[in-house]
Order: sequence, then structure tokens, then C-alpha cells
Amino acid sequence: MKITIVGTGYQGLVTGTGLAEHGHQVACVDRNVDRIAMLQEGRLPIHEPGLEELLVRNLEEERLSFTTDLEKAVADCLPVFLCVGTPANEDGSADLAEICEAVRQIAAAMTGYRIIVNKSTCPPGTAATFERILRENTEHAFDIVVNPDFLREGAAVDDFLRPDRIVVGCDEVRVREIMRELYAPFLRTGRPFLAMSPVSAEMTKYATNVMLATRISLMNQLAEICDACGADITAVREGVASDDRIGPTYLFPGIGFGGSGLPKDLRACIAFGNSFACDCDLLEAVHHVNERQIERFLARILSHYGDSLPGKRLALWGVSFKPRTDDVRGAPALRLIERLRDAGASIVVYDPVAAPKIEKRFADGVRCVRKYYEALEGAHGLIIVTEWNEFRRPDYERMAALMAEKVIFDGRNIYTPKVMREMGFKYFSVGRPAV
Ligand SMILES: NC(=O)c1ccc[n+]([C@@H]2O[C@H](COP(=O)([O-])OP(=O)(O)OC[C@H]3O[C@@H](n4cnc5c(N)ncnc54)[C@H](O)[C@@H]3O)[C@@H](O)[C@H]2O)c1
Repeated sequence: MKITIVGTGYQGLVTGTGLAEHGHQVACVDRNVDRIAMLQEGRLPIHEPGLEELLVRNLEEERLSFTTDLEKAVADCLPVFLCVGTPANEDGSADLAEICEAVRQIAAAMTGYRIIVNKSTCPPGTAATFERILRENTEHAFDIVVNPDFLREGAAVDDFLRPDRIVVGCDEVRVREIMRELYAPFLRTGRPFLAMSPVSAEMTKYATNVMLATRISLMNQLAEICDACGADITAVREGVASDDRIGPTYLFPGIGFGGSGLPKDLRACIAFGNSFACDCDLLEAVHHVNERQIERFLARILSHYGDSLPGKRLALWGVSFKPRTDDVRGAPALRLIERLRDAGASIVVYDPVAAPKIEKRFADGVRCVRKYYEALEGAHGLIIVTEWNEFRRPDYERMAALMAEKVIFDGRNIYTPKVMREMGFKYFSVGRPAV
């Protein structure tokens, strides 16, 4: 099938390469000229494990192409996948200006019947808005499908090739069957193809993300109680996670969830509910706990130094919002760096892939290094922000020798308090007794 993808960000690239890998002829469009030039040369503008291999292979096999010419790409395909950003407005609601503009452009470029497949995360009811825009801007027939994306950055290729489920929101049985056929090779292991109304599919995406966000905030709230009563949240988590009714995922306490998905979709869902005068108090609390979590972590760091950071050098390991991605959108590290720098500390940052983004963003008081031990030289403290695997079993003796003060603030609970005590570190983690 000839397929067009509009938007070559994290979502569009994974979707485009994943579909090409299954034999489809895929044209990916972006308005960002530099990005398209890189991709045409087989170079990735983002870090996503396994994606480069798919990109290069499918470019070589000429199943995948990249262009800035939306008109040409839309002129010769059946489905057009929308993978355009839907950022947050000031009040948390979804800003649909960019995606509505993309729909307008697609409508103007249509030369016949098209299936418009929306993969971007949008508030329920957006498919109806797209329908109106299309009617106003084209005389050609079309159908709209809502096909939400449940990819996790850092594991997105695997998630796309082996999804837990495919959700397709469309009232037309014929179009549902086309989508079922398109996704059939990805569902060979018997995972479900769930057909529903467009508005239910849109709501399913919000519901999934707020559920995941709720689990994390709940664990962070329980970690706070563990801190107060001397219980260890790791043991509590294991006890809870082995209950079949609960399961182990998204139960890790830390410094709160970040990224371009959970925080944005949580706030957008609250704003959407409020627009119907629905009381979203549980979701508000999930957001509030998440905000408080990072403030508590910051307060712990500041209080250790007597609220005085001038002259202190702090090392930060990890800045991406989670491991195996270079995405720093909504990353807790950004707030930590800004606040600690403003309090007078000099910050030295190491991240295996995201450091260049930090270098671009912070000019003064923040230095990025290429090796993680280098960040520790003369440091008065180490802050673990992202749990990259390489941080999990470091050479503690080497760390101790490099640091001016043996203090670790572990925002991801990756070390064992007993080991830290034996190695002579002052060690603070989340929801576990400090040593
Ligand atoms: N990133 C993820 O892992 C993920 C997971 C699930 C859902 N989503 C959702 O997917 C959507 C896209 O997210 P993303 O992270 O890929 O965003 P992104 O910002 O990385 O990429 C969006 C791309 O669209 C391009 N674009 C915007 N308007 C265009 C136009 N008119 N024509 C051509 N290109 C255009 C931009 O230049 C950009 O490259 C969002 O709604 C997001 O919430 C993302």
C-alpha cells in the first residue's frame, strides 16, 4: 500500500519506518527542511534504539522516502497518517493549531478519496473537527480514523512492531477492515484489534496515560509516607506488584514523571473534563503530587547544603526524561538544573545521548562532559536523574576518590542503601531510609 506520513518526529519516524519494514511504500513529509535533508541521507535527528537500522534498510530498499513536498506526497497514496505535535496551551489544554493546519494542507492536496488516520494525541471530539476542516477544504471523499499511539520512547520500535493492541476509531466497517488488514502482520501473536467509535478511541489514549500517571503519583505519595514512617518503598513495591490484580509496571517511585506525553496528556484530560464541568479532582491530585515530588527532591538537596549553594559543584547523571531516548521535553532534569544553578551551584552534566540538547539550552553555570566519571571531579554531590543502565553498577571507589564530598541524591533508587553506607557515602533516595 502507498502510505503518506505527515510529521517526522518521534512518532512519525517510528510509524513510517515500521510500516515500510512490512513492505509498504511510505513517503514521510515534514516542513522542517534540515530534518528531511538528514533523513534523506539516512541520518536520524533523534535517538531511538533500533530505529537507524530500520531507516537505512528501508531507504536502501526504496520503500521509504522523505520529502518537504506535502502536496506531492498526498497526491499518490490511500492513507495519510497524521503524526504532528499537539503541545499544551498555557492552561494545559491541547493546542491543535498545528495539526488543524496540517489537515487543511492535506485537504487542499487531495486528488481523490483518502483515509485520514490520526495518530497524534488529541482531545475527544477532534476527529469531528477534522471532518469539518476537510469538508470545507476539499470536494473529494474521505474517511477519518482515530488510531492512537501507545509507543514508549526508548522502546518505540519494539512497541510499534509488537503492539499490545491496536485501537481503531472509525464508524465505517469497510475502513475498519482496511485498517485491520494493514495492521494484521503486527498482531500475529494474537494481540487484539479493537474497533470502536472515533471519540472512544480518542478517550482511550487519554485514559491510558492518566492511568499510568496515576500509578506513578500513587507510588510517589506512598514513598512520602514510607519516608515518614521508616518503611522501605522498594519492599512495599515488590509486595504490591506481585499481586496479580495490580502487576509490576509503572510502580517505580522517583522524582516524578516527565516527557512530552504523560504530563501533557494528564493536564489536557483535566482541561477537557473541566470543559464539561466534570470534577477532575483525582486527576488534579495526580498532577499536584507529581509537581510536589520534584520540589521535595530539590528541598532535600538544598537542605543538605544549608540552603547555600555558591561554591558548590554538583554532578548530574542523566538528563533525558527517561533512559534510551534523547528527548528532554518536560524532563525533570531541566527544572533541577535551572533551580540549582539559580541557587548558585555550578552544574556538570553527563548524559549518554541528550547532553548536546542541554548544552544548547543552558549557557551559563552548566557544563556538559563526555564521560560520566569526569562529571564527578571535585563534585560536592552527585544527583542521579535518569536511570541509564551504565549508572547502575559503577566503580564506587573511583567515584569516592574523584568527589570532593561523598554525597549522592538518587532520584531513581538505583543503588542499595546498605552498599552506599559501606562505601562511606551519604546517600539520599526516595521513600527509603536515608543513610
Ligand atoms: N513521542 C512519542 O513517543 C509519542 C507517543 C504517543 C503519542 N505521541 C503523540 O504523537 C504526536 C507527535 O508527537 P512527536 O513526539 O512525534 O512530536 P514531534 O514534535 O517530535 O514531531 C512533530 C513533527 O511534525 C512536523 N510538522 C508539524 N506540522 C507539520 C506540517 N503541517 N507538515 C509537515 N510536518 C509538520 C514538525 O516539524 C515535527 O517534526 C503528539 O500528539 C504526541 O502527543 C507521541
